[in-house]
Amino acid sequence: MTDLFSPAKLGTIELANRVLMAPMTRSRAADDGTPTPMMLDYYRQRASAGLIIAEGTYPSENGKGYCRTPGIVNQKQIDAWGDITEAVHREGGKIVLQIMHCGRCSHADNKSPTAETVAPSAIAADGEVYTEQGMKPFSMPRALRGEEIAQVIEEYRQATENSFAANFDGVELHGTSGYLPAQFLSPGSNQREDGYGGSLENRIRFVDEVLRAMSGVQGSDKVGLRICPGFPFNDVKDPNPQETFEALLERIQPMGLAYLHLMRASPLDVYALGHEFFKGPLVLNGGYDLRSANKAIQERGATAVSFATSYIANPDLVNRLAKELPLNDVREELLYTNTVEGYSDYPVYDG
Ligand SMILES: Cc1cc2nc3c(=O)[nH]c(=O)nc-3n(C[C@H](O)[C@H](O)[C@H](O)COP(=O)(O)O)c2cc1C
Repeated sequence: MTDLFSPAKLGTIELANRVLMAPMTRSRAADDGTPTPMMLDYYRQRASAGLIIAEGTYPSENGKGYCRTPGIVNQKQIDAWGDITEAVHREGGKIVLQIMHCGRCSHADNKSPTAETVAPSAIAADGEVYTEQGMKPFSMPRALRGEEIAQVIEEYRQATENSFAANFDGVELHGTSGYLPAQFLSPGSNQREDGYGGSLENRIRFVDEVLRAMSGVQGSDKVGLRICPGFPFNDVKDPNPQETFEALLERIQPMGLAYLHLMRASPLDVYALGHEFFKGPLVLNGGYDLRSANKAIQERGATAVSFATSYIANPDLVNRLAKELPLNDVREELLYTNTVEGYSDYPVYDG
């Protein structure tokens, strides 16, 4: 019977098993966004995952939101990512990169002095963000001018091209957690009066066009989309997320994306939504363990399940799940520090 340990395919990406590593920001890149040697160790250690979805990575300097997050903008960053993909591939693993433009969820202190904070509308997100000087309110964004939207879409396309230059097996568009795609989708952050705001049809246009641009690089079967309908994180305000995401999925369904990555963090049955409106492979995420993940595959038609928290402390998660071995505990206070401690020093099972 098919289970977590059976091979699978997401678009053209062939997986040895269905235990995926979910994308996780860990703030271990250099200040200039270049991936570091400890990131190489961390991802290599986790290469037995069926697929690693590497952490949210900015496609342009404007898209950076947080300290020590990586970019895929310049040659230095591409080369450092290339070393990471090579290390993962050498271990027999597969790895895609999550492209994350933070839009208004950012602070000027966290990005290059010439970069700007841009968003669909000049409405600041209600909340605070970590900076090296402590927590600060999110910066007020500048509303993108109509003609600038094509430039932002081009940044996603170029980031996709750069990802393939770094030998990633694919890319994932980060559409959750209140970042730029979610800002366009949600009426609370998108009050534009042009073709990218107002009606439902206009609000979904940006994500549709970004996915088309990303798919144009090496095909839609190497592009995934991550969504989390109804998740209010980072001040997402949408009175009818069910309607928004139904319309989005209906619009993108004909593209033939590699997969839809559904994070469940709201009362909505995001699985039912994905199943009804997206006919390609589904990756489920959010609080799964061995039993519930196998059930999702065997009874609910999921192709794979992604694990975030369990992967932080268990580089050998596949082996531990397969043999029902105990899991290491996460040291939460070390999640976003900038050393190997609590990052690439978690042990494999040695019993
Ligand atoms: C430290 C940390 C960083 C995260 N960073 C990202 C990220 O960069 N992109 C993203 O889509 N989700 C991110 N998430 C959300 C996780 O991918 C995942 O959806 C969530 O933790 C629930 O999965 P779990 O129950 O297996 O932990 C992050 C979660 C954690 C704990």
